[in-house]
Amino acid sequence: MALREIVKFGEDILRKKCREVTAFDEKLATLLDDMAETLRNADGVGLAAPQVGILRRAVVVDVRDGKGTIELVNPVIIEQEGVQVGNEGCLSAPGEWCEVERPMRVTVKAFDRTGKEFTVKGEGLLARALCHETDHLEGVLFTDRVKQVIPEGRR
Ligand code: CO
Repeated sequence: MALREIVKFGEDILRKKCREVTAFDEKLATLLDDMAETLRNADGVGLAAPQVGILRRAVVVDVRDGKGTIELVNPVIIEQEGVQVGNEGCLSAPGEWCEVERPMRVTVKAFDRTGKEFTVKGEGLLARALCHETDHLEGVLFTDRVKQVIPEGRR
């Protein structure tokens, strides 16, 4: 495993739409391993492939709920319910926090690294992270969804 460099806001790659993963091979496994390590190292809750310079539909999420890192390949949000408004940040925008509205609960369909389909249900922070990371795959950033910028002293 290896740490990968995290692309920062302003780089074009974060605005591009990612391609589907079609090969569930060693290269994908290495990418997911590296993303998980990079996420842990950066102390974040989610990381999408374009954030490490790869335009493929792969994300890793770890909301520290004891369930470990969830890997999602070609994720699609198939259900969403409720509303939550809360502070959100991104490893590609260190120190920037904004109030963002997200669904309270989501169901996501995805594939694991071997190509097996699964669904995951998330509530609260996990729902927020799943939405934030799938947005990255469309070139959408959390700042696009901001309702209110949090002033420096209130973060
Ligand atoms: Co992000």
